[in-house]
Amino acid sequence: MPTLSKPFISLLSFLLLFPAVSLSLNVSVSTAQPSAAFSISPSFLSFSIEQDRWTDWVGTTSRNQIFFNTLDNLIQITGEPPHIRIGANSEDHTDFSDSVKFSEAIFPAVTSTVPYPEATNITVGDGFYEAAQFLPPNTHVTWGLNLGQNNLTAAVLEAKSLAKAFSSPSIKSAGIILDAIEIGNEVDLYSNNGLRPKSYTSTQYVKEWTTFATNVTAAISSFPISPKFWGGAFAGSSHSTSGFSPQAIFAEGVLSSSAGALISTISEHRYSGSFCSGSGGLLQDLMTKSTIRSNLTQFSPDVAATQAKGLDFVLGETNSYSCHGAPGVSNTAGAALWTLDYLLFASQLGILRVFFHEGIGFKYNLIQPLTLTRSILDGTPLSTPLPPHIQPQYYAAIIAGEAIGNSGNTHVTELDINNARVSGYAFYEGKTLARVVLINSQAFFTTTTTPRTSTHIDLNLSGTNAPTTMTVKRLSVPHADDTTGLTWGGQTYETSNARVSGTLQVTKVAVTSGVDIQETEVVMLTF
Ligand SMILES: *[C@@H]1O[C@H](CO)[C@@H](O)[C@H](O)[C@H]1NC(C)=O
Ligand SMILES: *[C@@H]1O[C@H](CO)[C@@H](O)[C@H](O)[C@H]1NC(C)=O
Ligand SMILES: *[C@@H]1O[C@H](CO)[C@@H](O)[C@H](O)[C@H]1NC(C)=O
Ligand SMILES: *[C@@H]1O[C@H](CO)[C@@H](O)[C@H](O)[C@H]1NC(C)=O
Ligand SMILES: *[C@@H]1O[C@H](CO)[C@@H](O)[C@H](O)[C@H]1NC(C)=O
Ligand SMILES: *[C@@H]1O[C@H](CO)[C@@H](O)[C@H](O)[C@H]1NC(C)=O
Repeated sequence: MPTLSKPFISLLSFLLLFPAVSLSLNVSVSTAQPSAAFSISPSFLSFSIEQDRWTDWVGTTSRNQIFFNTLDNLIQITGEPPHIRIGANSEDHTDFSDSVKFSEAIFPAVTSTVPYPEATNITVGDGFYEAAQFLPPNTHVTWGLNLGQNNLTAAVLEAKSLAKAFSSPSIKSAGIILDAIEIGNEVDLYSNNGLRPKSYTSTQYVKEWTTFATNVTAAISSFPISPKFWGGAFAGSSHSTSGFSPQAIFAEGVLSSSAGALISTISEHRYSGSFCSGSGGLLQDLMTKSTIRSNLTQFSPDVAATQAKGLDFVLGETNSYSCHGAPGVSNTAGAALWTLDYLLFASQLGILRVFFHEGIGFKYNLIQPLTLTRSILDGTPLSTPLPPHIQPQYYAAIIAGEAIGNSGNTHVTELDINNARVSGYAFYEGKTLARVVLINSQAFFTTTTTPRTSTHIDLNLSGTNAPTTMTVKRLSVPHADDTTGLTWGGQTYETSNARVSGTLQVTKVAVTSGVDIQETEVVMLTF
C-alpha cells in the first residue's frame, strides 16, 4: 500500500468529516404502476376555511377575484376545484339570525402572538351561506354547524339556511355541491375549553351528535339536496376504543341511527405541534422526513378502522403549527417543502383528502386573500398595506397539482430512498410512469455559512419501455427561511392577481444523466 502524504490524509479526513460536496443516491423507479400504489384525487390538496371571516375569503355581493384566481390556477392544472370545508373553531361560536345579512362578529383584542384572532361570537344570516355562489363552479363543500354551544335551535336554523342556499339557482346552476355537514369542531377539546364539563366523554358526544344530526336531517329534508355527514373532526385521537377516536364512536354506535347511516367520512385534525414563536431549528424539524412520517403514520389504525366501515378518511383540518402558525417558520419557503412532503406522504396512508386550514392573516396560509394592515408575525401596524397574495406553501399546491395531473386516474407511490433528507414519489397515469417528484428537505438558511450542497440522484428505471429522456422542472428557493422569491420552473405566482407570470424554464436531459437536487429544493421529472 503506497504511503499517503500528510496533506492528502488531512484533505481526506476533511472530506469524510464534512461531506459538503456531493452525495450520490440510486433510486429505483418502476415504469409500470406497482400494485401498492395509491389512487390520488386531483383535489387531494383541499382547503379548510375559518368561518368567522368566510365572506372576506369568498366575497359578499361579488366574488373575491384573488381567492377565485388562486383556486382557478389549481383547476386549470388538475381539472377539478379543491374541496372547501368551512367552519372550524368558529363554527362552535356561530349563531343564526334572520336579521343579519351576511355576518356580524365580535373579535377579541389583537396580541403579538395572535395578530389575527378568531371571533368569539359570530351571528350569520342567509347571505353568509349564499356567498358560496362565488366559489369556482363545481366546487364541493363541507360546512360545519354549531354543537359547541349545545343549542339545537341555532344548529337547525343554520342547517335550514345552508340547505336553502345550496338549493338556490345561483349555487345549483354553478354545480356547487354541499357534499357534507359537520356538526361540532374538535369536540375532544370541549372539556378543556369550557364548552362542556370536565367529565365530557365520547359516549356523550355520540348521543348529542345523534340528536343534532337527526334534527338537522329532518330540517333539511324538504330541500332538493342530500348532503352526507362528516363525523369526528377530532383534534387528536386515542386510536383506541377509550377516549375520542373513530374506533370509540363506532363502538358507541354513531353509525347506527338513521342520521348516523348518513356519515360518509371520518375527519381528523393534525398540527405538528403548538409553537407561538419560531426558530430555524423548528423550521428544520418541520421539514424533516422522519417527523413528517411520524406525525402521519399514527393515523393508520384510524384509517383502517374507518375503511373497515366502508367510509372515507380525511384530514379535515391540518397545517404546520397551531397558534395559526409559528412566525418565521410556517410562513416560509421551508414550509412549502413540508407541505409537499406531508401531503404526498398522507396519500400513502389511504387518506382521501388533506384540507389545509386557512384564516385571514394566519401565518400558515397558502393564500392571503385580503389586504392586510398589520403584520401576520407580531400584529404591528404595517407602514403600507399588504395587498392580497399567495404565501410560499401555495407552490406546494401547484406542484402537487402538476404531479397528479388532470387524468383523473393517477396513482402514486413513495420511492424507497435511503436518505434522511431526500424523499420522492412516482406518479402513474393509466398504469404508466408519468412523473417523479423529489424533495430535498435539508434547510438552507440565510444564516447558513457552509456552501449549499447538492445530492446527485441516479434513476434506475426498471420495466418495459423505460423512457430515455426526461424533463426537469425545479422549485427554486433562495433560502428555507425566505418568505418570497420562490419560482417554479422559472415562473412566479407572487403577482398582484395571483396568476402565474414569467417564462417557463425546464430542461430536457437523458435519464442516464440523473439529476442534482440542492438543499431546500424540489425537482419534478416528467417522462
Ligand atoms: C449506484 O448504482 C451504480 C450501478 O450499479 C453503482 O456503480 C453505484 O455504486 C451505486 N451508487 C450508490 C451510491 O449506491
Ligand atoms: C353574540 O352576538 C349576538 C348578536 O350580536 C348578541 O345578541 C349576543 O349577546 C352575543 N353573545 C355573546 C356571548 O357575546
Ligand atoms: C327536534 O326534533 C324533535 C322531534 O322531531 C322536535 O320535537 C323538535 O322540535 C326539534 N327541535 C328543533 C330545534 O328543531
Ligand atoms: C339558542 O339559539 C336561538 C336561535 O339563535 C336563540 O334565540 C336562543 O337565545 C339560544 N339559546 C340560548 C340559551 O343561547
Ligand atoms: C411532529 O413533527 C414535529 C416537528 O414539526 C415534531 O417535533 C413532533 O415530534 C412530531 N410529532 C410526532 C408525533 O411525530
Ligand atoms: C434497478 O432496479 C431493479 C429493479 O428494482 C433492481 O433489480 C436492480 O438491482 C436495480 N439496480 C441498481 C443499480 O440499483
